[in-house]
Amino acid sequence: MKKVVFFGIVLFVALVGCKQENRTVKQMAKSQHQKFREPHRPQFHFTPPSQWMNDPNGMFHYNGEYHLSYQYYPDSTVWGPMHWGHAISKDLIHWEHMPIALYPDSLGYIFSGGTVVDVNNTSGFGSGNNPPMVATFTYHDPEGEKAGATDFQTQGIAYSTDKGRSWKKYAGNPVIPNQDKIRDFRDPKVVWHPDTEKWILSLAAYDEVQFFSSKNLKDWTFLSAFGLEGDDRLWECPDLFPIVVQETGATKWVLIVSIQKKAPNGGNATSYFVGDFDGTEFKADVHDQKWLDWGTDNYAFVTWDNVPKEDGRRIGIGWMSNWDYAQVVPTKAWRSAMTLPRELQLYRNGDDHTLGALPVRETVSLRASEIAMKPLKVKGSAVVEGDFDVMQCELDVLIDLKETTAKTFGLELSNEQGEKLMVTIDTDREVLMVDRTESSKEMFSEEFYRGPHTAPLSLKGDVLDMRMFLDASSIELFLNKGALNFTAIFFPTAPYSRATLFSKEGRLVLKEGQIFPLKSIWD
Ligand code: FRU
Repeated sequence: MKKVVFFGIVLFVALVGCKQENRTVKQMAKSQHQKFREPHRPQFHFTPPSQWMNDPNGMFHYNGEYHLSYQYYPDSTVWGPMHWGHAISKDLIHWEHMPIALYPDSLGYIFSGGTVVDVNNTSGFGSGNNPPMVATFTYHDPEGEKAGATDFQTQGIAYSTDKGRSWKKYAGNPVIPNQDKIRDFRDPKVVWHPDTEKWILSLAAYDEVQFFSSKNLKDWTFLSAFGLEGDDRLWECPDLFPIVVQETGATKWVLIVSIQKKAPNGGNATSYFVGDFDGTEFKADVHDQKWLDWGTDNYAFVTWDNVPKEDGRRIGIGWMSNWDYAQVVPTKAWRSAMTLPRELQLYRNGDDHTLGALPVRETVSLRASEIAMKPLKVKGSAVVEGDFDVMQCELDVLIDLKETTAKTFGLELSNEQGEKLMVTIDTDREVLMVDRTESSKEMFSEEFYRGPHTAPLSLKGDVLDMRMFLDASSIELFLNKGALNFTAIFFPTAPYSRATLFSKEGRLVLKEGQIFPLKSIWD
């Protein structure tokens, strides 16, 4: 009898506890959403509820859910001991914040990495009908670093057998020790190589990418390295994956690498190489490194694993900030946002290829209404009319390049405070310029206000298409069908309230355009 009562009490406590657990996560999410209205808080970009965030990590799709983890420090709004924060979305647009996925342990902080769905249970962590998710990440041992060792970064794995809800670290960690004692040895990302039926892991080893292979995600063999002659910049967050060429249907391999210093517009940026991978070595077609995004604020861009074959897209996301100033930007409760999720597309470009990116089609669901812009000739300036919020909209325009005679033209966003952000196209030099040097009167970082920033822009066609997404403190520009991406953040002391088209030394001819006021994802 006693036993039954005892058991009953235990069961009751367990059930109540479980209910409370569920309630806390849901309630937490709800109250957070109500709070997500602070100055500069993006309304349709992913941000952590509070505290510090950097790189996107561990992204995979399973059972209709997109998972997004991220470098997270839950105790401060500046970088610190790294955890993996976690969120889930059904449409890549609306996110539910989940409890922290990975905590630091005796082997170190949890730095960046990826997650794969181990569909055939090669790791043995799951079962045939319940495939495990396996995360690869870097252990950064702060004690070792302090003691002056150089092998304080090693690679570990963790797995989930409950659709990414909870994670267990593998008892045999680290799975890749740091044999060569390379100080910067991190950010493992895994992809399945169908031809050799092996997992391939790419990681950044200071100024090159190293490749490893495995049959079971636990035992790894070094394969080869890829780098550039004479390069001494720090490489981070590699991502190797196959992608189909739009025009030919052939498969190429893309190697994305983030570069920490000396990016074209200062600080860091995400780059890529296009080539072939035979299961052992990556060979770039042309050794030119290209920039995936020319703006200052798209770093550590990596892609989702296991997007269904029927969907077929290669989708990625980047950290919308820059190490030059990320820790001092004037947001209070949290720091940093992600870019919009973007679909990558590989185009033929003569003998070469271009990796373009456009916001995923799911962003269309954000449109609250459509305001058509009539064909327009601008000499001097013209305020963009319409009932829309400059700080929460998508602007799509087609510029008639044949009829446009202006030397420079563009769009200015401004407020009553005299703060402004300028997007300019220089038709002589064929460059895009983004100028945030007067974007705010609040001086929080010298590096942030350097500029204007520039990017080469082909103006060969008769028409130039520009898509712009504006969200509280960011602008994302997609030109020439996504061939040129440019992402920048800004922090005016009061929201911009006016959008003005301008032209200098000639006229600007707008063929057509649409303004889409966008909904908040927290409503
Ligand atoms: C890139 C990076 C990674 C590292 C992580 C640490 O932004 O430096 O190389 O794993 O951030 O938070």
